Formats: sequence, C-alpha cells, structure tokens
Amino acid sequence: MAISALSVPRHVAIVMDGNGRWAKKRFLPRIAGHKQGVDALSACVKACMVRGVAVLTVFAFSSENWNRPSDEVSGLMDLLILALAKQVPSLNTNGVQLHFVGDRRRLSKKVQVGLVQAESSTAANQRLIFNVCFNYGGRWDIAQAAQKLADRGESITEQSMDQAMALAHVPDPDLLIRTGGELRISNFMLWQAAYSELYFSERLWPEFGAADLDEAIAAYSARERRFGLTSAQLGEPNSPFPAKRLPDA
Ligand code: IPE
Ligand code: IPE
Ligand code: MG
Repeated sequence: MAISALSVPRHVAIVMDGNGRWAKKRFLPRIAGHKQGVDALSACVKACMVRGVAVLTVFAFSSENWNRPSDEVSGLMDLLILALAKQVPSLNTNGVQLHFVGDRRRLSKKVQVGLVQAESSTAANQRLIFNVCFNYGGRWDIAQAAQKLADRGESITEQSMDQAMALAHVPDPDLLIRTGGELRISNFMLWQAAYSELYFSERLWPEFGAADLDEAIAAYSARERRFGLTSAQLGEPNSPFPAKRLPDA
C-alpha cells in the first residue's frame, strides 16, 4: 500500500526497549546498545517528519531505571549530555521543538542545565514536537498533576488533570509502539494512552528502522478507532477522529 493511502497518526509514542539485549547479542557492554539506540532515535525522528507525524514522544529513562547498576545509570546520563551536544544542531536545522518530560529534581545540575538549553534553543521550531521522557513515570505524572491542582485549590476533573499533566502541550498519542518484544506499558503514559492504538514489535530498539515504522503506521491505519461507540456510529471506516477525545455529545 502506498504511504499516501495510509492514515498517519498525529502523535506517535514509543517505548524504546531492547538496547541491552542488542548489545548482549554482540558481546558488547549494555551502554553500547544505548549508544546505538541514540542513532536509531535520530533516524526515527527524521522518518516521522517525512511521514507527516506532528508529535513524537519517546520513553528514554523511567522512574524505575534508577535501580539499574550505577555504571549503567551514569553511562546513560553521560550519553544524554553527549546526544544533546551532537543532535541539537540538526534538530534545529530540521525544525524540531524539543521537550524533556519528567522529574528533573533528581538529575545532576549539569544535566538539568543541558535540558533547559536544548529546550530553549529549539523552542521556536514548528515542524515536529519531540518529547523525550526522562526520569518519567506515568504514575509520577498523574501524582504531580493532582498535587498541582490540590496546591491551587482546584477541583480534580478529567479536564483539569489533562491541563496539569506534564504532557499537556500535546494531544494524546494515537499510536503507542513498544519495541523489544515485551507486552507491557512499564509505567508509560498511563493517563494519555487511554485510547491509543497499541503496537508491539519484536525488533530491538537499535534495529528499529523506517521500514518498521511504516509497518506500525500501516497496522495503525487498518485499525478502527471506536472511542466507545459502535462501528455503525462511525460512518466511514477511516473517518478522522479527534485524537484528544470525542466532542461533547
Ligand atoms: C531500553 O533498553 C532503554 C532503557 C530502559 C534506558 P533496555 O536497556 O531496557 O534493553 P533491554 O530490555 O535490557 O534489552
Ligand atoms: C521501559 O523499559 C523504559 C524505557 C524504555 C525507558 P524497561 O526495560 O525499563 O521496562 P521493563 O523493566 O522491561 O518493564
Ligand atoms: Mg528493557
């Protein structure tokens, strides 16, 4: 099927899993897998832009990943700094607006400064919104949003929570991909993935390429998103749905 015949998800979210296994298969240290994962991510950003995806959100480091061996954790922090230095100029050239989503308080001052600089230097770009979830957990986001509302004395509704979430600047993901073969969410976008289409790939993240993305988009395109309605209510099978939520009845 030609790519133009497909319905392209507005927001793609990815759990980039399998770096460690990719390295292990090659008798390399785990951090070599993470390095290769950065290259796969850079290619994925470009592929998303070419395909007309408006928002890409990736899971790079979870609230739970702190419990890994300390050399892997510090290697990942170093890699983040290196990746920013290497990738931000080309993100700027390509019109990518970068956001880091997660609890920054546990990150080193150096990392925190790097994140702020990368965000501010790409803030005016409009072609693709690229969210990197780092020290992120879906439960963290729900809890911090509820705490924010409680502190302001505001009532907790779905709408006020939506606006208080760390991902409030983007619509909910249409397509949520997990690479690496595991069939779980691992605390990613618990609130926002309520109606996302899920796609699980056996491919390890460092090997996930444009052809794999196309397969995921083709699978998405063949799904019928019903948002709780019946099939008959939807009319055209490929009719566009609001990605965020259905309009009020
Ligand atoms: C995902 O790859 C990247 C991070 C969690 C930082 P993994 O490191 O989890 O790779 P596997 O699952 O061990 O292969
Ligand atoms: C999820 O992968 C987190 C990221 C990809 C950053 P994990 O490898 O941490 O997930 P589990 O431990 O297999 O559930
Ligand atoms: Mg993993």
